[in-house]
Amino acid sequence: MIDLRSDTLTRPTDAMRKAMARAEVGDDVYGEDPTVNALQERVAEMFGHEAALFTPTGSMANVLAVASVVSPGEEVLCESSAHIARAELGAHGAISGITMRTWTHPRGKVDLGAIESMYAPDMGPFFVRTAAVSVENTHNFAGGSVLPIEELRELRAWADTVGTRIHLDGARLWNAHVATGTPLADYGRVADVLAVCLSKGLGAPVGSLMVGSADAIDAARVRRKRMGGGMRQVGVLAAAGAYALDHHVERLADDHAHARLLGEALGLDPDSVDTNIVVVDRPDAPAFVARAAEEGVRIAAVGPRAVRLVTHLDVTRADAEWAAVVLSGLAGR
Ligand SMILES: Cc1ncc(COP(=O)(O)O)c(C=O)c1O
Repeated sequence: MIDLRSDTLTRPTDAMRKAMARAEVGDDVYGEDPTVNALQERVAEMFGHEAALFTPTGSMANVLAVASVVSPGEEVLCESSAHIARAELGAHGAISGITMRTWTHPRGKVDLGAIESMYAPDMGPFFVRTAAVSVENTHNFAGGSVLPIEELRELRAWADTVGTRIHLDGARLWNAHVATGTPLADYGRVADVLAVCLSKGLGAPVGSLMVGSADAIDAARVRRKRMGGGMRQVGVLAAAGAYALDHHVERLADDHAHARLLGEALGLDPDSVDTNIVVVDRPDAPAFVARAAEEGVRIAAVGPRAVRLVTHLDVTRADAEWAAVVLSGLAGR
């Protein structure tokens, strides 16, 4: 089976498991796990922020990050297929008491005109106050698309003018960095607060981080504990993340090349595939997915007419080439 359903499916490599076994640990609720502390400092520095907090999941990092800039009864604006809107099971409303309004862009991009017209300053008892704008880079359900740094800078400039905050869901920001060469610190500079994942293309079994100001991280540490996310000798997991940062960032370029190959096999312009995710419109999505599985290629339906393929660490060039043959055959190409 070649499994292209998600880049979360990777299993830790032998070398990563060895790094985990060797990790120095302590009780992280006491702030005494040296491996976690080192990872948090390293990631904060990579993005030019003061501090970072290790979380079990990207969803928790997003919930903590958004709640650090949006209070209960306020709203965050985001793209309509953003992970925070579609796939975090209402956590931002259910847990943080915040609402969302959305703009729609087929590639998940920033639409500054739409954002400006939706933006609601504090109007007392009349409208929900917009406290932040959230952007996702790369954008998962829009097919791994990269948000160009220039557009993010324009959003930052506008946000500074009106006095609103920016949350960046950077679950796959590493992919955007490798695809464009944009330094991670440049992405860090456009956001007040970020979430990044080690458990997607980087291949760690678990782990994400919220990145932001020291005050925001202090408050998030309390919220994380309240949510049951206070972990103890979690350096064994942070060690996997540190290993992934050392060894699995640059190789994302291979995943991107494999995704272009698969996109082309399904009739897309390979240049429209920015990173490691391919989303194609298939009116027969569930049946297409079932037929692919029968041929040994697992892919996912992410809507009644949308099929998603994701390349990752456990998909070799030969796997991608074989999957391309199978899928183009099924697509009648
Ligand atoms: C863009 C994006 N943000 C956040 C998440 C949440 O990560 P997790 O599954 O670790 O909660 C995902 C998961 O796939 C994602 O694609």
